[in-house]
Amino acid sequence: VFCHASDASRAIAGQIAALIRGRAGEGRTCVLGLATGSTPTGVYDELVRMHREEGLSFQNVVTFNLDEYFPIRPEELQSYVRFMREHLFDHVDIKPENAHVPDGTVSGESVADYCRRYEEMIEDAGGIDLQLLGIGRTGHIGFNEPGSGRSSRTRLITLDRVTRRDAASDFFGEENVPARAITMGVGTILAARQLVLMAWGEGKASIIAQAVEGEISTHVAASFLQEHPNAQIVMDEAAAEHLT
Ligand code: F6R
Repeated sequence: VFCHASDASRAIAGQIAALIRGRAGEGRTCVLGLATGSTPTGVYDELVRMHREEGLSFQNVVTFNLDEYFPIRPEELQSYVRFMREHLFDHVDIKPENAHVPDGTVSGESVADYCRRYEEMIEDAGGIDLQLLGIGRTGHIGFNEPGSGRSSRTRLITLDRVTRRDAASDFFGEENVPARAITMGVGTILAARQLVLMAWGEGKASIIAQAVEGEISTHVAASFLQEHPNAQIVMDEAAAEHLT
């Protein structure tokens, strides 16, 4: 628990930078799982700063984002591929072919085939070393809404009403929020070697308490983190408020 999200974000970015540099020193790649939304922006800002001012290189970094709305074109304001370019990819030296975001335009193959291929790409990269996560008010990680099973994999899902309401301002109205999204599954996320879930602000306090102290269940996808051997939950004081 940190006083402020900004301090927490810097600490997490420092941890990621150490991992990237450690791997580079061994001549190996570093595979990062990334999230979008308001929660991780401070981490990306700090990584960009470290790239500019401290020579942190992303040449050996491979990334896989958790999710993307479906359908959505990459140039649309709300697309997660655009978000990642604006917050990270365009400002560091990552190789474009190493930065993966689920494709919100899949055509020419079925979405199910594409999702299987996304899983294979993660596997071929050697699996995810560190996965960044935010949490939605429904307890979702990625877009694994209530009902998502422990062994779910990358797939097309229907967004929860609460999630669409939370995204309404980004889309200038709830009716414009796509009904569906492609998301890594709970099983995909739990396969990462290290998980870092971040939560800032009082709006996350109640779902954080359920995820951390409540029973492990498909009603709250984030509760499955309790079963992971190397999962960190990083919060500010407001988000930790309801923990006993
Ligand atoms: C985004 C994602 C979602 C968000 C969650 C919280 O890639 O996977 O699970 O992390 O909806 O969103 P924010 O950070 O905007 O509160």
